[in-house]
Amino acid sequence: MQKKTYYISTPIYYPSDKLHIGHTYSTVAADAQARYRRLNGYDTFFLTGTDEHGQKIEDKAREAGETPKEYVDKIVAGIKDLWKLMNITNDKFIRTTDEQHEKAVQKIFQKMYDKGDIYKGCYEGLYCKPCESFWTETQAAGGLCPDCGRPVGKAKEEAYFFRLSKYADRLVEYYEQHPGFIEPVSRQNEMINNFIKPGLQDLCVSRSSFTWGIQVPVNPEHVIYVWLDALTNYITALGYGSDNEELFNKFWPCDVHLIGKDIIRFHTIYWPAFLMSLDLPLPKKVYGHGWVLLEGGKMSKSKGNVVDPVVLADRYGVDALRYYLLREIAFGSDGVFSNENLINRINSDLANDLGNLVSRTVSMVEKYFGGTIPAEKEETEFDQKLVSLALETSQKAQSDIEQLNYSVALSEIWKLISATNKYIDETVPWILAKDETKAGKLAAVMYNLCESIRIISVLIAPFMPETSLKIRSQLGVNDDFIWDESKTFGKESTYTVKKGEIIFPRIDMEKELSELEKASGSDDKATPFKEEIEGVAKIGIDTFSLVDLRCAQIKECVPVKKAKKLLQLTLDDGTGIDRTVASGIAKWYKPEDLVGKKVILVSNLKPAVLCGVESKGMILAATAAENDVKVVFLDESVPAGSKIS
Ligand code: MSP
Repeated sequence: MQKKTYYISTPIYYPSDKLHIGHTYSTVAADAQARYRRLNGYDTFFLTGTDEHGQKIEDKAREAGETPKEYVDKIVAGIKDLWKLMNITNDKFIRTTDEQHEKAVQKIFQKMYDKGDIYKGCYEGLYCKPCESFWTETQAAGGLCPDCGRPVGKAKEEAYFFRLSKYADRLVEYYEQHPGFIEPVSRQNEMINNFIKPGLQDLCVSRSSFTWGIQVPVNPEHVIYVWLDALTNYITALGYGSDNEELFNKFWPCDVHLIGKDIIRFHTIYWPAFLMSLDLPLPKKVYGHGWVLLEGGKMSKSKGNVVDPVVLADRYGVDALRYYLLREIAFGSDGVFSNENLINRINSDLANDLGNLVSRTVSMVEKYFGGTIPAEKEETEFDQKLVSLALETSQKAQSDIEQLNYSVALSEIWKLISATNKYIDETVPWILAKDETKAGKLAAVMYNLCESIRIISVLIAPFMPETSLKIRSQLGVNDDFIWDESKTFGKESTYTVKKGEIIFPRIDMEKELSELEKASGSDDKATPFKEEIEGVAKIGIDTFSLVDLRCAQIKECVPVKKAKKLLQLTLDDGTGIDRTVASGIAKWYKPEDLVGKKVILVSNLKPAVLCGVESKGMILAATAAENDVKVVFLDESVPAGSKIS
């Protein structure tokens, strides 16, 4: 009989920043599923990798004085090391710079082009000439380049477009006919209402303003842009478009693409449309998990949380970290990470509950029976309860893991751990041990404890593979096991245990937090996290307080001759010396609307020359809509020079 197959993927990561614990989350979650499926006899393909092209990488490499390939090679090596450290069992690591991927993407592009799904058009946007970058209206708020502060102008660039609009109806139809394609379900409505209903625009799939990418096969002046290159990794990794499509035929369509919620749109709109264009089946599921966020400075003792998975794994062990991530946060929702929560979990769930259970049991078997449980056992009144709970937990955990409800599965498993600890208190083995006639009962208690722990070792294996093996070694049972062994209570005929090291030593919270504080230095050293607002990272109060905001009164205001968008403001900032600021608000305000008004000035911004005007600072304005900017005015009563914090 042919084996059941299972294909799971993580996103491919940008090798631009150091990966933090949020990135680790997707990969650990996928690894737990892959391990679970293997334990269940599935022929599993688990894919992860890196997304290496694009202007950002090209720029960073230039800054580092390296070629883009040299630049990414080093970072990718670090990412591979991180996955090794985290005990990630991916079957393949794809790089979008792999020759096979590049060739296959060109074939895909050609196929779509031949079909008429890709056409040449014009990309229009706001362009900053010195930076050679296109920006959206929102990014270039006030008409200024967010990178250099210079004014941006409307520009057109020849580009290739994918006919995304053509697939809108088929996408909605597909969602409706395949409930469970997008999970959590709430995200499906978000896609339909926020993106598809307002009308899908065709998608720009090439650029000619940078060169670090896969060449467009029909035009060497262009490189293939971002999502067509990135998303197709899920099939090129299986050999699609190569001479050998065996893996593709075996594993496609994918069982689940596991991704963060910020990239759901690309996976549930662009990706299915690409696949439809290629006449390929769609993935069975796209699951968008929530984000791991940093808590808002609640941890008073620490200047910043340590979010580097290498540091955390080194201090607490890989399994503690894996456990924490999947237990603490309900998988589809956001959750807050803090070192304090992590240490609390380690102390209570791992050291107290699981660790104690194992060490107490093994010690008692050694103490009362010299390490081996005798064959003769009698039942106690508490046995049946424990047996039923263990078997029930195996079933519940199975269904929760299959539905990616990891935190629920772990909480069920921990109920069994608590009940097994309680079983010790109920059966009071130290009292049974005092009475020779109770030796049979004592043996039964020890046996049941070992069986329950053996079942627990199977149930935690997808999440905490090393711990599972450590426990099994102390129990003296095989380390080559399958999930179904958690479905039998009474599997082993006897146990010969061997005490090992303490699996999870307790951590002294105060001491640890103060050491972490030293290790983390300040907030600024922590890698920025993706936050609720896309592209906005959290900063600490230390960083915020570096920005000097003051009330300033506009004394004069004149248009800047060389730049239609700019107004030149003369401000009273309370110092007695006039200050000049150029602001890209001419489209929305006439000079006479502004004179006399009180505004918020960023006073310590480095001066910049904008179209011949030396601007010393900037004034704050809100982007009220795509093409509407409103200056933030202060109450008249606030004196010029007042600090704003
Ligand atoms: N390269 C794209 C993905 C292309 S997939 C065809 C990308 N890369 S990324 O490196 O920016 O992000 C990779 C994954 O990490 C995304 O799923 C993202 O949601 C996830 N996370 C990044 N920060 C995260 C948290 N703080 N918490 C949870 N997941 C986070 O996007």
